[in-house]
Amino acid sequence: MDRLRNKIRDIPDFPKPGIIFKDITPLVKDPATLRLTVHQLLHPFLGRDITAVAGMEARGFIFGSLVAWELGIPFIPLRKPGKLPYDVQSVSYDLEYGSAELEVHIDAVDSNDKVLLIDDLLATGGTAKASCELIEKLGATVVACAFVVELDFLQGRERLGNYEVHSLLHY
Ligand code: PRP
Repeated sequence: MDRLRNKIRDIPDFPKPGIIFKDITPLVKDPATLRLTVHQLLHPFLGRDITAVAGMEARGFIFGSLVAWELGIPFIPLRKPGKLPYDVQSVSYDLEYGSAELEVHIDAVDSNDKVLLIDDLLATGGTAKASCELIEKLGATVVACAFVVELDFLQGRERLGNYEVHSLLHY
């Protein structure tokens, strides 16, 4: 895991003062480390009944689509509002200041689907919780959520309650 940790760069005061941003671009720039990350992400789910991987915009697309490709199953993008061209289901959720929304195409998954959610980072858990709700609004089941980085001090895992949660690195 040190190989992964060494490729994640701290950027102080981004996007605003007091926040230390975990920058994964050095990790995705290094093919061997990216490959290792993808294999570590999917490892707990080998042999399990998963029919689709969903990823949250934007960095969840990078890891989610690679995991889906490795597993040979569909990738479902969960997008910020107004980006998806077909009919959408949507969910809104609270941020520290204000609110946010995520959308998914209504035909992305259905009640037969068992979905693995992938994102780069679990912080407060608001995005992941909303993503679980969005998948469930389409009738599908959320099998688990997996992240490259978890910021333990923000207690996102608690917010996700009974959902199965895996993270490769903890800060
Ligand atoms: C970041 C990160 C997660 C989310 C985690 O995305 O990639 O999706 O925040 O935060 P939470 O657990 O507190 O909800 P961001 O909102 O920065 O969007 P981006 O990937 O499009 O930059």
